[in-house]
Amino acid sequence: MKRSHWILAALTVGVTLAGVTTSRGEDLPSGQGLVDVRVKGLKAAGGAMQFLSQYDGSDQATAAAAAKAIDDAASGLTVWFPEGSGPGGPGIEKTRAKPEIWADNADFNAKIKAFDDASGVLTNAVAANDPAAIKVALGDVGKSCKACHEVYRGPEE
Ligand code: HEC
Repeated sequence: MKRSHWILAALTVGVTLAGVTTSRGEDLPSGQGLVDVRVKGLKAAGGAMQFLSQYDGSDQATAAAAAKAIDDAASGLTVWFPEGSGPGGPGIEKTRAKPEIWADNADFNAKIKAFDDASGVLTNAVAANDPAAIKVALGDVGKSCKACHEVYRGPEE
């Protein structure tokens, strides 16, 4: 398989997963299974960012799939952190989610919104297939990932 096709296949898995979990939140697993879902969705977004950071305008279909994986993560975040899915919650064995998420849920949601806004700008830049605009938008998306991680994601074990 060509490398770009492999990336597209990998992204599609993430997209499908995120699509199911966001449009039908009631189908989400609980406990550690939910942590697995959110980690998988966010990893798909990370992989998509990596692809787009090297994007030269030559493969818009893969770029669009990448933008969608990122956008799906933004939607996913709104349902991936229900109360009780943090450390010590029922069935949770391992998570980097910090309890502060539920202590200041308004701020956590504002950080999701900032990410979602940046993702929207990125989606438009990809739709225009404009590598320069994609680069700028990607920088803002990256800042929004980091802004949340700094406050709400604990260290790697
Ligand atoms: C609103 C907060 C928030 C935003 C925005 C956010 N993340 Fe995260 N992310 C988290 C939290 C919390 C975890 C820890 C989840 C867990 O372990 O249960 C996490 C986990 C991850 C992981 C899993 C790896 C690991 O072990 O921690 C990756 C990869 C990741 N994020 C990438 C991203 C990328 C890339 C973006 C932006 C495109 C992003 N995240 C945006 C909060 C966020």
